[in-house]
Amino acid sequence: MIETNTLFSIKEASVWATEHLGKTVTPSNISYLIQYGRIKKIGDNGTTQVSRQELMGYYNSYNGNREFAWKDQLGEDLNWALSFDKYKEAETTKHVHRLHPYKGKFIPQLVEYFLDSHTDNFKKQVYFKKGDIILDPFSGSGTTMVQSCELGMHAIGIDVSAFNALIGNCKVARYDFVDVQAEINRITKVLKEFLANSRTLEFEKKLLQVLYDFNNRYFPVPDYKYNLQRGEINEDKYGTEKEKEFLPIFNNLVKEYNIKLKQDKTDTFLDKWYSQNIRDEIQFVLLKSKRLKILLQKKSLALF
Ligand SMILES: C[S@@+](CC[C@H](N)C(=O)[O-])C[C@H]1O[C@@H](n2cnc3c(N)ncnc32)[C@H](O)[C@@H]1O
Repeated sequence: MIETNTLFSIKEASVWATEHLGKTVTPSNISYLIQYGRIKKIGDNGTTQVSRQELMGYYNSYNGNREFAWKDQLGEDLNWALSFDKYKEAETTKHVHRLHPYKGKFIPQLVEYFLDSHTDNFKKQVYFKKGDIILDPFSGSGTTMVQSCELGMHAIGIDVSAFNALIGNCKVARYDFVDVQAEINRITKVLKEFLANSRTLEFEKKLLQVLYDFNNRYFPVPDYKYNLQRGEINEDKYGTEKEKEFLPIFNNLVKEYNIKLKQDKTDTFLDKWYSQNIRDEIQFVLLKSKRLKILLQKKSLALF
């Protein structure tokens, strides 16, 4: 008879899950499940354990069944390999794809799959070769352009959003790294001097500290998420209560450090969403960096 309530260390859990699922589950995958309240942490740091029964329940309820659930919905001819679920987040955001956490990204491996020169049972024909021009009329954060360039193809991207165009352009532009580093060092130095005269950094440090204390007290990791998953907390009600409790703490800090939150005008994105001190910093950096300005102007992105 199998003992269902066995306790595993994180390492043992990863070995067991790897065997159970038939794919690699690393200790950090298990830690992730604990961190995000999917399974309960038993014991203290150093001797953390998890229950085999709970781990099995989690995998059976979601991960292991994901492929089958999607096939039920979409049909047996679904090419599950194209879900790329075996890739870790670090792989699906490789090199420049991590520059901005754009939420609507393609997985680069998917783009590669369709652009590169391999064939398989599903992709029976090669469509593109080196030197071809790839057009992505909805280029978003530029995944298609980047992967095309990597494969030696030319790429044109179009996007209605100026911000997305900026992300895409930043990812595919050619840079002189020595020059970029020198410019970054210079701007960092003058910005530090500029900030030394403002109380913003002190305010930010203090705010982070009080937020940290508050969150540790009322939203402890991983207990809070675990209780939430089990429906033991009404997040809307609890969150609203705690927000009300935190607001006076925040307002006192804003007053103490003389931070201007509301802007006098709301003409641009920056006017509307960024506090005065951040706007001052951006403005300062732009003023100090003629070359950065020229770069932005060249890209015709009237963001500022
Ligand atoms: C899902 S995103 C594409 C994401 C992209 N594949 C990537 O990996 O980053 C779709 C994009 O289409 C753009 N878009 C929507 N309507 C458009 C239009 N009429 N013309 C140009 N771009 C448009 C949106 O701004 C958005 O960035």
